[in-house]
Amino acid sequence: MVTINENYLKLKAGYLFPEIARRVNAFAEANPSAAIIKLGIGDVTEPLPQACRDAMTQAIQDMGQRETFKGYGPEQGYLWLREKIAQHDFQSRGCKIDASEIFVSDGSKCDCGNILDILGDDNSIAATDPVYPVYVDTNVMAGHTGEADDSGKYGGLTYLPISADNDFTAQIPSEKVDIIYLCFPNNPTGAVATKENLQAWVDYAKENGSLILFDAAYEAFITDPAIPHSIYEIEGARDCAIEFRSFSKNAGFTGTRCALTVVPKSLTVKASNGEEVQLWTLWNRRQCTKFNGVSYIVQRGAEAVYSAEGQAQIKALIAFYLENAQIIRDRLSAAGLKVYGGTNAPYVWVKTPESFSSWDFFDKLLQAANVVGTPGSGFGAAGEGYFRISAFNSRANVEEAMARVTANLKL
Ligand code: MLT
Repeated sequence: MVTINENYLKLKAGYLFPEIARRVNAFAEANPSAAIIKLGIGDVTEPLPQACRDAMTQAIQDMGQRETFKGYGPEQGYLWLREKIAQHDFQSRGCKIDASEIFVSDGSKCDCGNILDILGDDNSIAATDPVYPVYVDTNVMAGHTGEADDSGKYGGLTYLPISADNDFTAQIPSEKVDIIYLCFPNNPTGAVATKENLQAWVDYAKENGSLILFDAAYEAFITDPAIPHSIYEIEGARDCAIEFRSFSKNAGFTGTRCALTVVPKSLTVKASNGEEVQLWTLWNRRQCTKFNGVSYIVQRGAEAVYSAEGQAQIKALIAFYLENAQIIRDRLSAAGLKVYGGTNAPYVWVKTPESFSSWDFFDKLLQAANVVGTPGSGFGAAGEGYFRISAFNSRANVEEAMARVTANLKL
């Protein structure tokens, strides 16, 4: 008899974004004339930078000639891309990251889940609350948690509440945890972590033999020069942290798919036989067995991000989305709502008006304003009473959405 991975049955409802899509589709079907504006899932809307498109067009031509045709690429990614990433994203900021420690992939969401392949099943795990649901759900799927309680919290996980009270930076736990998920700039709250804050986490990890899984998918949105872009800007992080990055949000690759994971060679963990094992070796083995790399065409597109034109174009793209975030912040604050984030991140985290739960507010905005956001409670129990608005949309849609939302708040 076939058996299933029963851990999937522990998962609460659907994954947040498909669940939102289901509700929105039902509303759209019942209200076909509603002009719905989506500021829910953080999916980019603006075209790929010209430099990336030109590079991809050239790469397609390469594929059309026997001399330049490419079959399977290296599982770790082409060295010409990894070297540019190492130099521009890490070495230029003083991080001692070598190209050989960078693994190009088809998404940091995928890698956040896949990384569990090389880690044991008995690790204690800490994640912030609210949190990007992928960190928690992939651990549920792998059987690393107990059942969820009524508030949606899974047994066996350590939740680190983040709120306005602690500036949305997680408190270091008093107990020892083996694996810590951190995401800065933060999804969903848009908060950032200072150097001192990250240093405290690295010190904790080194003291307790813990591993930090650091998601830096939104680093390009940092405007404050004092805020670190990478965990490797922090002394000691090479020995205790893996970092995930993406071309999705900075260069518009959500549909094209390209990301990277950094596994420093100095990061070792003791096996049960006492042997020090390099996580790099395990991840490399995993990738070589289960992954055949990102397409040559897409990697050429990603490489173009680092050209002079590419850099100028992605800067303009990021500035555009940050201006959207500022509009969202300004309009909602003027309407009397308390807003957070949106200055170093593409997400604005909004306190819902009194008496509105996160899903109540979602329904109200969908039905009255035909605007879609993301209920804070979908990111965890401590997100209840908050609502996330994404800045990824056209200027016209952001202006129109804010006009409709604020008009409805006045009623
Ligand atoms: C989000 O809306 O939180 C993001 O789009 C999720 C993701 O990048 O996978």
